[in-house]
Amino acid sequence: MGPFETQRLYLRRFRLTDLDDIYTQVYADPEVYRMYCGETLSRAQVHQRLLHRAYQSGYAEFGYLAIVLKKTSRVIGQINLTPFVNSYYRLPGEPTTPTNALEVEMGFAIGKAYWGQGLAFETCQAMIRYAFQDLKLPRLLSGIIATNTRSINLHKRLGYRIERNLLQDDICGLVAVLENPLIRNS
Ligand SMILES: CC(C)(COP(=O)(O)OP(=O)(O)OC[C@H]1O[C@@H](n2cnc3c(N)ncnc32)[C@H](O)[C@@H]1OP(=O)(O)O)[C@@H](O)C(=O)NCCC(=O)NCCS
Repeated sequence: MGPFETQRLYLRRFRLTDLDDIYTQVYADPEVYRMYCGETLSRAQVHQRLLHRAYQSGYAEFGYLAIVLKKTSRVIGQINLTPFVNSYYRLPGEPTTPTNALEVEMGFAIGKAYWGQGLAFETCQAMIRYAFQDLKLPRLLSGIIATNTRSINLHKRLGYRIERNLLQDDICGLVAVLENPLIRNS
């Protein structure tokens, strides 16, 4: 997966030397990590994750990429594309079956200093292009905490529709859904 380049950003595989940046921007700031993954991680735990992410195969279809601001060459956040067995979200109008569907989620977090500039939007557009044009995924599905207004707005700007999660025991009260417009259902 990747690397990708946008007007202001590089999306590339993590390096172990990104530890300080990603720890500071995402995992040390409650305003960022609470809405993203719920709880903080220690520097040692982030280092453990970086070991996996830094050695992620270039051929892997899914995984994590560092979001790098071209102007400063610093890591300002991360984005991931991750398949998951969907036992978390149920959408209105979709039948309940005895099996769980395999879905793909695009997750992301950006340091607060970089909010409000359209950088998350630019990042997500590149990843959606890859997910839909290259991987030909039928759709992307994300859970969102209902008070995460910035994320809801971003998902809407990206073209997602926002649904209520009918499984009320999940922390994510909302589910964002983006269908692949390149795939026509006959
Ligand atoms: C969710 C998150 C990535 C959104 O970041 P963001 O900066 O608000 O999102 P965008 O990149 O779409 O930027 C939109 C803002 O940039 C402004 N903007 C400036 N230039 C822009 C451009 N060229 N294109 C689009 N928007 C632009 C928009 O007007 C908007 O401003 P506003 O925030 O004052 O309304 C960020 O809040 C975050 O990391 N939160 C914590 C983690 C998280 O919640 N992850 C998602 C879990 S579901």
